[in-house]
Amino acid sequence: MADSITITDNRTGTSHEIPIVDGGVDANAFSKLLPGIWFLDPGFGATASTESGITELDGDNGILRYRGYPIEQLAEHSTYLEVAYLLVHGELPTAAQFEAWNYEITHHTFLHEFLRKRFMEGFHYDAHPMGMFVSTVAALSTFYPEAKDIEDPDNRMKQMVRLVAKAPTIAACCYRFSQGLPFVYPDNSLDFPTNFLNMMWKIGGDFTVDPTLARAMDILFMLHADHEQNCGTTAMRVVGSAHADPYSAAAAAAAGLYGPRHGGANEAVVRMLTEIGSFDNVDAFVDAAKRGEARIMGFGHRVYKNYDPRATIIKKAAYDVFEVTGKNPLLDIALKLEEVALSDEYFISRRLYPNVDFYSGLIYQAMGFPLEMFTVLFAIPRMVGWLTHWAEMLEQGQRIARPRQIYTGAGVRDYVPMAGR
Ligand code: SDX
Repeated sequence: MADSITITDNRTGTSHEIPIVDGGVDANAFSKLLPGIWFLDPGFGATASTESGITELDGDNGILRYRGYPIEQLAEHSTYLEVAYLLVHGELPTAAQFEAWNYEITHHTFLHEFLRKRFMEGFHYDAHPMGMFVSTVAALSTFYPEAKDIEDPDNRMKQMVRLVAKAPTIAACCYRFSQGLPFVYPDNSLDFPTNFLNMMWKIGGDFTVDPTLARAMDILFMLHADHEQNCGTTAMRVVGSAHADPYSAAAAAAAGLYGPRHGGANEAVVRMLTEIGSFDNVDAFVDAAKRGEARIMGFGHRVYKNYDPRATIIKKAAYDVFEVTGKNPLLDIALKLEEVALSDEYFISRRLYPNVDFYSGLIYQAMGFPLEMFTVLFAIPRMVGWLTHWAEMLEQGQRIARPRQIYTGAGVRDYVPMAGR
């Protein structure tokens, strides 16, 4: 049997054979064979937008690998900054390569004072931190006009290092501003997660970050670093395909992540669990979800039709955090909700399982982050994923993203003056 498909245009009786390559077929071959016939796929449920060698998902078996390395092994043995190097460069770094990478990132964590004091302090006092984050990433494009030269690989890398390094600083500034607290400058003597938590929580001279919480933060950063062609990353690639600068493209990606169906789900999960309020209300909530009156936030995934492997790791990490912070009382409601849903035909038939967001918010809340910061915590590490896909798209020489449509509107008609309407 040939590894191909044959299509027949029944209007003409002509048939065309198209090879199946790496699990896909070239849609452009169709448009040459069948001009004017488009494949309708709102939400891209059946469309591969690109070839990519960065992250591999196997949704049926709940598998996630970065550059071939299983997420479980990276979460156990690696660090976010090492994973960021792996995603960007395609290989795990040698000691010398990691030292140079760590130096580069560490020495690009500062923000221009005008960005902090004139731009970020211009937000309304109760601005949502994620709205601030999206806007500030876009504003960075005005500080680095040379970033528009997206054709130069060295210049691309320089902007990528800046964004990976500055994402936690911007995030911490969004939090400190929302609390009316003074900004804390990055401390180059601290590692990536510890420096972030220091910028978040330091008040006075005697503050030190708990290493258990720093490790948990690092694991969460690794788990959120990339996830192939998700909504935010697709936005990055689409905007980047117009050859916009990486700061503007990353702002578009962050805006996509802000949505409650996407990265906003971690905040929505805790709001949902709080609204459920007690063990006894779980069954009624599940019934409401089955009637379509509610959604179990943190459940379901376009790709994973099995347990999200990240949720498994996060669920385990939660217990380490609770050893330090005390158990989040919402955990019991979450465990009951998961147990009820996973044994119910509605969820089983739709292959709905906990995703990365189901437990992460419980950890963030226990660590003291306000709900409004949860999606910002997702954006910090996802920055390297967005940028890696952006660079890959440019290296592939991809054409500008410009899908077609099936027009279903009014037919041609003449203008009618106002008096005649
Ligand atoms: C992330 O793409 C990525 O990789 C994203 C991400 C990443 O790392 O970038 O993994 C991060 O975004 C995780 C997902 C976070 N979102 C949520 O937890 C929000 C709740 N989940 C959903 O809204 C939903 O499951 C999506 C958005 C995640 C997926 O939506 P799909 O694939 O379009 O599925 P669908 O909406 O068509 O649902 C299929 C069916 C529907 O029922 P029927 O119409 O068949 O009767 O399942 C039902 C839905 O009503 N359903 C749910 C449900 N999710 C889907 N029912 C109850 N609770 C849910 N959570």
